[in-house]
Amino acid sequence: MALYSEKVMEHFRNPRNVGVIEDADGVGEVGNAKCGDIMKMYLKINDDEIIEDVKFETFGCGSAIASSSMATELIKGKPVSEAMKLTNAAVAEALDGLPDYKMHCSVLAEEAIKSALDDYYSRK
Ligand code: FES
Repeated sequence: MALYSEKVMEHFRNPRNVGVIEDADGVGEVGNAKCGDIMKMYLKINDDEIIEDVKFETFGCGSAIASSSMATELIKGKPVSEAMKLTNAAVAEALDGLPDYKMHCSVLAEEAIKSALDDYYSRK
């Protein structure tokens, strides 16, 4: 049995929304102390509280890259209120699953988005 789903491999090889938003409305950075991986999220949010654009930089494992790629796809064009509810389980499910010992990589994606949204709210 393959360790990683096709979707994980595909998002790892061809990650969506990689990069930086210079004039972001919210930026979040989180890390996992155990593996040392770091994830940074940038959000562009309009007056209607819709996430118009999202970009990420991940210095980490393949699952973390695939998780951040999928997470950005899941919140792009969505209201802030919906992005706030995104769970790591939903990210992992959208990737057709992650191995148990790689679930923490999807947690990083959830935390990065929450941290960017916190930053957005604190600036308002
Ligand atoms: Fe740490 Fe994947 S091994 S985020």
